[in-house]
Amino acid sequence: MKMQLRLLVLAILFLPVLRSGAQNNSSSQDQKMKLFINNLMGKMTLDEKLGQLNLPASGDIITGAGSNNNIGEKIKEGKVGGLFNIKTAQKIRDVQKIAVEQSRLKIPLIFGMDVIHGYQTVFPIPLGMSCSWDMALVEKSARVAAQEASADGICWTFSPMVDIARDPRWGRMSEGSGEDPYLGSQIARSMVKGYQGDDLSKNNTILACVKHFALYGAGEAGRDYNTVDMSRLRMYNEYLPPYKAAFDAGAGSGMSSFNEIDGVPASANKWLMTDLLRKEWGFKGFVVTDYTAIAEMIDHGLGDLKEVSALALKAGVDMDMVADGFLTTLKQSLGEGKVSQQEIDMACRRILEAKYKLGLFDDPYRYCDVNRAKNELFTPQNRQIAREIAAQTFVLLKNDQQILPLQGKGTIALIGPLANNKENMTGTWSVAADFGKSISLLDGLKNAVGTQANILYAKGSNFVSDPQLDARISVFGKPTQWDKRSAKEMIDEAVAVAQKSDVVIAAVGESAEMSGECSSRSDISLPENQEELLKALLATGKPVVMVLFTGRPLTINWEKANVPAILNVWFAGSEAGDAIADVLFGKVNPSGKLSATFPQSVGQIPIYYNHKNTGRPLAEGKWFQKFRSNYLDVSNDPLFPFGFGLSYTTFDYNNLKLSNSTLTNDGKLTVSVEVTNSGNYDGAEVVQLYLRDLVGSITRPVKELKGFQKIFLKKGEMQKVSFTLTEKDLRFYNSDLQWVSEPGDFKVFVGTSSANTLEAAFTLK
Ligand code: BGC
Repeated sequence: MKMQLRLLVLAILFLPVLRSGAQNNSSSQDQKMKLFINNLMGKMTLDEKLGQLNLPASGDIITGAGSNNNIGEKIKEGKVGGLFNIKTAQKIRDVQKIAVEQSRLKIPLIFGMDVIHGYQTVFPIPLGMSCSWDMALVEKSARVAAQEASADGICWTFSPMVDIARDPRWGRMSEGSGEDPYLGSQIARSMVKGYQGDDLSKNNTILACVKHFALYGAGEAGRDYNTVDMSRLRMYNEYLPPYKAAFDAGAGSGMSSFNEIDGVPASANKWLMTDLLRKEWGFKGFVVTDYTAIAEMIDHGLGDLKEVSALALKAGVDMDMVADGFLTTLKQSLGEGKVSQQEIDMACRRILEAKYKLGLFDDPYRYCDVNRAKNELFTPQNRQIAREIAAQTFVLLKNDQQILPLQGKGTIALIGPLANNKENMTGTWSVAADFGKSISLLDGLKNAVGTQANILYAKGSNFVSDPQLDARISVFGKPTQWDKRSAKEMIDEAVAVAQKSDVVIAAVGESAEMSGECSSRSDISLPENQEELLKALLATGKPVVMVLFTGRPLTINWEKANVPAILNVWFAGSEAGDAIADVLFGKVNPSGKLSATFPQSVGQIPIYYNHKNTGRPLAEGKWFQKFRSNYLDVSNDPLFPFGFGLSYTTFDYNNLKLSNSTLTNDGKLTVSVEVTNSGNYDGAEVVQLYLRDLVGSITRPVKELKGFQKIFLKKGEMQKVSFTLTEKDLRFYNSDLQWVSEPGDFKVFVGTSSANTLEAAFTLK
């Protein structure tokens, strides 16, 4: 006791000293950086400053010291601040050499890339990753991605993408973490930590870029790049938190989105880029536009290139991706007094600071170690991590009569357009993947069963039946392997294979390019030719397990009603096949939970669990009531709710208890629940806590996620899970955009999904 007291006293005495020591240290580093950059900028011409604001795409066209376009020349002239879409340590070293040996001031370039879910070792698409609800794994995946990318010359990633999305027609839902601001914020933080580590200047950490700032996920009708119109209240409470979390976690850069906000495109939106981001949130890094976003403001109707470039700079944008607007027009705008020298200097300074923090001025080749590239990419260790993580992202949607896990004996039919298609395992982006090295599901099953079972394969169907649509879903080098046979021929072959088998695994869903950028769909069901295949397989009477590949929630109503087992595997990355086999054969018990609601019908979109109540809510358990908020032709229920996901075992929730019936402003409330693994397998469960604020000065959602814990229980084991709530957890942005809590009654829900919870109540005094 005495000892503890002494330590406490020492801590109290020395904490301020330690803290001010740390502050001094960081401020002296800042001072050093400032002096260095002042000195450098003192030597820079206006053209050289504008050069720093210019980010062209290389398209991998520069090789060695030569180049087949004029980028090499521009680099020599100091007209390029960075490059992206270029990879390999050797190529990047060669290009960096031009900058630091042949340009007047020898300022190193920054090299960016869309390292979205892994580099050569590919992790599940972000929407899949978010279904792991496991922040340590999310961070680890970003860490491995940074390790590999930095070994191959890259020091800046255009990730994390933290756009909240509630419209699965939008193909880019695959790139984010789903619909929830709380879960999205946790993930945003973990990814930034994973990429940037604790020291950006290390050669294995890379600069994160938070995108797409802001609200890109709320485009009308789910159509990519479309108009956004949103109240400030909704922004602050529902859409902005993940961006803020990522910036608060120290992300060094942000990317402006394509869409407009309050009628002004993000790249020209001063309120967004300066008032909110810099003044309110205190962001000190730099902002790059999205691809050609400055020039796109001409089509938005804001003026010509000169005008929109000036608007972007004045709004607080620092770097121009691909549009060439800053490079070619700002000088004239300065002459005309439309922008100021100070604005140009500020943007230039922020970019130079990022380069400084990355350590590029100390060693411009810091990330171009050819030996690292040889030894650190796609390593057995990284692939093992990716395999383990992938298995944590799968969501078991249905498992009638415990068809799963499979025995791995006898004869197994593997059928479907995704059964033997390596190129489509990694999903959208995966820019550095070698698709040929991905593990297909066929490979994965064979690896798993060895000689214990016989695997028969048939393709069964194309992805879609319309060849023109097929061409549109394979433009980026992920071939769909269009099969010229008729649908009937393919189904006949598949049925014959199924008939020889004990069980059928149907690998169906979207091709990798049916989601991602510019891949909006108005109909998000399983393509009808694949549904026909499933019907024919079910008609054989064999048990059918559907392995669903998708980059978005789908309206798989018929499948839910008719196929006995459905395992949603998203796009699981380079190790997909092995990871799926791990789960199908029970080596891993699935524990993924949906981070986005699956609708029953496109007509219900936007559909999300944390909606408002309306003044005419439907009575609980009702399908339809006249003059209540509902539809004539479909219930309000989702097909699968947020937070949902089954396991091979079952979990019982009992004894939800609160430590008190009231919470005070400076107090704590403990919410506890007993969770028991009541089934036959060991397994993990994501215990979810939601709140409802019953009375507020503004209307409040019917439920909001405020905590979760992923626990592992052996079969038969029980664990008491506790959450601590404070007044801060009850805060929201009120009509004056103040972040407040309001005294009154609250409900707390704890359970296995947003729709299956125990319930208790407390009052905030
Ligand atoms: C995308 C961004 C991406 C950028 C650079 C754009 O089309 O919207 O997410 O980072 O291209 O590749």
